[in-house]
Amino acid sequence: MEHFVILGGHPLSGVIPISGAKNAALPACVASLLTDEQLVIDHVPHLRDVSTILSTISSLGKRVVRDETRVSIAGGADLRCQPQALFVEQMRASFLVLGPLVARLGRAVVPLPGGCKIGARPVDLHLRGLRALGAQVREEGDSVTVIAERLHGAKISLPFPSVGATEQIAMSACLARGETVIENAAWEPEVANLVDLLNKMGGEIEHADGSLYIRGKGVLHGARHAVIPDRMEAGTYLIASAITGGDVTVQGVIPEDLRSPLLILSEMGFKIEETNEAIRLAPGDRPRPISTITAPYPGFPTDLQPPFVALLSLVEGTSTVEERIFEHRFTYTAALRKMGAMIEVNERTAVINGVSKLHATTASAPDIRAGAALVLAALAARGESKIDNLEQIDRGYERMVEKLQGIGGRIERVS
Ligand code: EPZ
Repeated sequence: MEHFVILGGHPLSGVIPISGAKNAALPACVASLLTDEQLVIDHVPHLRDVSTILSTISSLGKRVVRDETRVSIAGGADLRCQPQALFVEQMRASFLVLGPLVARLGRAVVPLPGGCKIGARPVDLHLRGLRALGAQVREEGDSVTVIAERLHGAKISLPFPSVGATEQIAMSACLARGETVIENAAWEPEVANLVDLLNKMGGEIEHADGSLYIRGKGVLHGARHAVIPDRMEAGTYLIASAITGGDVTVQGVIPEDLRSPLLILSEMGFKIEETNEAIRLAPGDRPRPISTITAPYPGFPTDLQPPFVALLSLVEGTSTVEERIFEHRFTYTAALRKMGAMIEVNERTAVINGVSKLHATTASAPDIRAGAALVLAALAARGESKIDNLEQIDRGYERMVEKLQGIGGRIERVS
């Protein structure tokens, strides 16, 4: 099995280019189902999850052309109403095709996404939204059938600002008859990027006071779109700089999208400098322990929680991180403990007592962000570590080995 070999203990330094955001590229590709005209999307990263969503969309009858970081999607006059189960099982985000297919065809059959290592991850808010828009939703075994003559506008109040549910309902409502209001909608930068695309396609969506106001249209047309930079990739590499005592600049980013993590890293004593498209993190004062919680945007993002806990493992003093988004997002800490970290997890809070050093280990990447956390810990640890199950890392980090080697990381991919 392919694995990373990482020799730790070397500070990273240099400039690292950041790719387009996985979690903006995925819904943008799904939005192509809302029109038969051509959708051209730039700045799309080369990731397993992007390949999966493009395979899903092709299996529905769309023509997909990919070159470099541009994806063109067209056709689909004879869209199929059921994606291949394999793709939805591989990646939860494929479930987003459900609403657009019902809006276009009046019927869709999609497998229910499995839970995963970070929690049950139900889709009840997605289905509740589609029912509110007038669809009939039948859960049958491990798939769901959704039928609707024509979706109609509705007022939907989300009990939790779910990213996926917001995206699913917003895309569907664009082709409903009448106006839809989504109260307590998610407004992560990736959601705003999708809304920007839907408006370019002829949608009419406004965001105000935590709600999305969507005026339904008969049809949407093609558009040209660029995916925003990946704040999770950028945040991960800034934390890699911090954990190795390095001096790294992430290039091609939107600093505002990382405001909360940057404030916390600065409070901890790291030196942070930013321009309008780059952020530099270098050593500052002796790093101070900190307590934080994960929260919907603009709070500290749950996807940076695992890399951040890896960093806190080496910060003298006691830090705490409360995970308020997912119910099982600390399982990776067992591997950090194997490396010498002192982390206690009770319920949804991790208490971290910093140690002076971590030692190398052999571990498997449990999921995308936990895998990144193990890579960062290995870059800081004494000795040579091996990390396998790289499929998880390849889902969310484009060319991680080349990018880390470019800033002095001693990392190789070995088959
Ligand atoms: C998106 O997942 C991201 N994925 C996740 O990134 C990210 O961690 C998450 O948002 C939170 O920001 C993509 O955008 C492809 P949610 P999503 O719906 O849409 C519960 C990564 O590594 N919930 O906001 O699935 C759910 O169980 C991934 O890039 C319901 O209860 O997140 C969870 O506890 C990991 N019912 C919470 O809400 C629902 O119907 C957040 O889920 C939907 C969600």
